[in-house]
Amino acid sequence: MARSWDRKGVQDRPPSNREVPSDRKTDEEWAARYAAADTPWDLGSPHPELSLRLQDGRLAPPHEGATALVPGAGWGHDAIALARRGWQVTAVDFVGSLEHQVAPKLERLGGRFLVADAIRLDAAEPFDLVWDHTFFCAIQPAERAEWGVKAAELVKPGGQYAALVFPVGKPAEESGPPFGMDCDSMLAALGPFFNVRESEPVTRPLKRRTWREFWLRAEKIGLASRQ
Ligand SMILES: C[S@@+](CC[C@H](N)C(=O)[O-])C[C@H]1O[C@@H](n2cnc3c(N)ncnc32)[C@H](O)[C@@H]1O
Repeated sequence: MARSWDRKGVQDRPPSNREVPSDRKTDEEWAARYAAADTPWDLGSPHPELSLRLQDGRLAPPHEGATALVPGAGWGHDAIALARRGWQVTAVDFVGSLEHQVAPKLERLGGRFLVADAIRLDAAEPFDLVWDHTFFCAIQPAERAEWGVKAAELVKPGGQYAALVFPVGKPAEESGPPFGMDCDSMLAALGPFFNVRESEPVTRPLKRRTWREFWLRAEKIGLASRQ
């Protein structure tokens, strides 16, 4: 896996004529990265754009007990930030070793951690929010359509899919993860069931990240909001 999440990884980035791998990264491969503490994507804290929007109320829970799903939650910094701001959080990652670290912290805040494949998640109820931070760019591009269908199923009508869109500008022919993406490719995967509410560069781009970052928030079409 190329170490191309941050500026440290720039020299390691493979040449753009390298063949794009079509194989899916397995949970064992991701687990090996965590076991080796080789996790350059990990910020050690919630993404500042998420923190900002939670702090100023733009991403406040719409009602008491509103639910949020965090696919590919990693060490859970974002999931914990959402839970601290009143969201009832379900964090999902298919790396089992994360559970004992993340689950207790989330459970203290009324949330939970599930060891599961997010693309094939079987949820009893859809969520008010799906928060995606470097999950979409971590899955194989060939899996995006499948995730889009699942995401549409996982968000309630009137609910939201919010994302930190990264790495914008990374050529599609370069290997990953992270695989290059932008707001349009994410919206294309989500399909016709979402209206875009916000799509803009992040307020304070992270210096350590090589590629551009955008904020995207789309609302699932509900009975009252079809337009
Ligand atoms: C790039 S990391 C991002 C972690 C976290 N969101 C963050 O920003 O620090 C991608 C995460 O997604 C997880 N992941 C990848 N594919 C997955 C899948 N199909 N189901 C569940 N987790 C998955 C990996 O184990 C990894 O923790």
